[in-house]
Amino acid sequence: MTAKKRTAFTCTGCGAEHPKWAGRCSLCGEWNTIVAAEEAPRRKGGDAKLHGLSAIGEEGMGRFQSGLAEFNCVVGGGMVPGSVILIGGDPGIGKSTLALQVAHYFRSIYFSGEESPAQIAGRARRLGIEAASVRVSSLSSVEETIRLIEAEAPEFAVIDSIQTLYSADVPGYAGSVGQIREAAARLVDCAKRTGIPILLVGHITKDGSIAGPKLLEHIVDTVLYFEGDFARDYRVLRSFKNRFGSVNEIGLFQMTGKGLAEVKDRNSLFLNPFGSAAAAGSAVSASIEGSRTILFEVQSLVSFTSFSNPRRMADGFDFNRLILIVAVLEKHGLLKLGSYDVFINVAGGFRITETASDLAVAMSIVSSLKNKPVPERTGFIGEIALSGEVRPVSQGRRRVQEFARAGFRTLLLPESDRAEAHAAGFLGELVGVRTVSEAIDFLC
Ligand code: TYD
Ligand code: MG
Repeated sequence: MTAKKRTAFTCTGCGAEHPKWAGRCSLCGEWNTIVAAEEAPRRKGGDAKLHGLSAIGEEGMGRFQSGLAEFNCVVGGGMVPGSVILIGGDPGIGKSTLALQVAHYFRSIYFSGEESPAQIAGRARRLGIEAASVRVSSLSSVEETIRLIEAEAPEFAVIDSIQTLYSADVPGYAGSVGQIREAAARLVDCAKRTGIPILLVGHITKDGSIAGPKLLEHIVDTVLYFEGDFARDYRVLRSFKNRFGSVNEIGLFQMTGKGLAEVKDRNSLFLNPFGSAAAAGSAVSASIEGSRTILFEVQSLVSFTSFSNPRRMADGFDFNRLILIVAVLEKHGLLKLGSYDVFINVAGGFRITETASDLAVAMSIVSSLKNKPVPERTGFIGEIALSGEVRPVSQGRRRVQEFARAGFRTLLLPESDRAEAHAAGFLGELVGVRTVSEAIDFLC
């Protein structure tokens, strides 16, 4: 006789089925997410009507523009009606401040499970914003929140934070995986039905991801991270996922006594603020971030070590790429870095993601090793190959134009990019290099 196999338990985090209850789901690794299958919430299957693509209007695409151009840019040119945007970031980075600043441009409801209405009003006064358009609610039930949004039909809603919402239909405490997922799914459904854009604020876990299941990122339309350097007060809003725009866009803000101010002179953040002659070990490169080009400074410290294993450390730059560049400098630049520690830091907390900055990293190392500052207003563009060659970069023209705009006088770049750089209107000196050793010769 064969017994009929029956699944009695489900994980509310990942949906895995388990024959018996356990404290931790063996599939997704989340704790306290397994519930009896009959307790797991059932979902409606959506709308059974078929829609001809050509018959669907574009009514959804008129975007909501806030008065913060940097925010509009990062979400893809304004918020799409009915879209759900998740913003994550460390505590105290300014998520609530940003949410309130965006909200005041619309007839909004601000749901806050974290702060009292009085605290939010205090913040609004501090920001000096005319906050008559924003109404505050301290509801924490998902169902009631949605009912209120539907009844009041605001232009925009903020949920601060998704971790404080609670649904009585799902087991688990507020902030548990199942709860977060359910709340997000229902809010997405509400946004789609009403066409109201909703901004969800999310907490970040110690490993830097938004707390709750990775699945949350699949549920929402746009995921933004707000990050920055507490010491320097500047903040970068990055898009990590966006169904309605490029994910390469960044928005730059500065936290002031009156809230977040947009940063217009982008290069001021990452370049030597004093305009003084740079010290040895500093080199400037240009990075493409979506529609913007940003100049930033790489700093190196190369110091003699008496230990047999020299240290390498990179902040804002890929560690393995640093090891590779050091190896190329040793082999093709004939530099003896084996008895030196090499530390790299990208100024202002900027993060390099492109190989186009390799040459600047290499030159900052050489500059520190030889204790020779890079000549003033000199920039570097170029990817370094294992063979020691300096290779052309993508979108070289845009980088060259940014250097020209910032008043740079000399540009070291791959020889093959020189003619184009000239055509791009760079009036200073263009030094084409074919190999890292040619670049080292320029500096030393
Ligand atoms: P907040 O938006 O509450 O951060 P989050 O929601 O991400 O936790 O911002 C808190 C920090 O911002 C706090 O340290 C104070 C600072 N701040 C200012 O410097 N100026 C301001 O005008 C405001 C409102 C906050
Ligand atoms: Mg907050």
